[in-house]
Amino acid sequence: MIKILFVCLGNICRSPMAEFIMKDMVEKRGVADRFYIASAGTSDEEIWNGVGNPVYPPAREELARHGITDVSGKRAVQITRSDYKKYDLIIGMETRHVHTMLRVFGGDPEGKVRRLLDYSDRPRDISDPWYTHRFESAYNDILEGCEALYDSLIQERRNL
Ligand code: 4NP
Repeated sequence: MIKILFVCLGNICRSPMAEFIMKDMVEKRGVADRFYIASAGTSDEEIWNGVGNPVYPPAREELARHGITDVSGKRAVQITRSDYKKYDLIIGMETRHVHTMLRVFGGDPEGKVRRLLDYSDRPRDISDPWYTHRFESAYNDILEGCEALYDSLIQERRNL
C-alpha cells in the first residue's frame, strides 16, 4: 500500500482535486486497494473552529464535468508534523508549498516531499484557481501531474 498526501494552500481547490482525480484513476485501473490517498493545506484559512470547509463549488463542478461526483465528505484540514511519518509521498502543487512543508516537517530526510508537476515533462507550479478562476486549466494540470505520478509509480513497481 502506498500512502499519498496532496498539499496546496487552502485544501479546498487544487489538492482536493488531485485527491479525487487520483482516487478515480486508481479505481478505474483496478488498483484502488493498493492506495491510500488524502489531501491537506499548508494554511488554516479554510478551517473555522476546527471544522474545515468543503471543496470549493467551482472545483466541485469542474470535477463533476469529468464524472467525479462524490466529494461531499471532504473537509479542509491543515498539514501537521506527524503527516511526514504517516505518508510515503507528500506532493505540493507549488514550490512554496514544498518550502512550507520542509519547515513544518523539519526537513525531508526520506525524500518524500515533491511538487506534482515535477513528475511531468514540463515541471512547473499549478496556479491557484482561487485567484485565477481558471478551474479547467487547474484540472488539466492536475490530471497531467497525476498521470505522470502514476506512471512513475508503475516504473518503480511500488506495490503495484
Ligand atoms: P487552494 O486555493 O490552495 O487550491 O485550495 C485556495 C483556497 C483558499 C485560499 C487560498 C487558496 N484562502 O486564502 O482562503
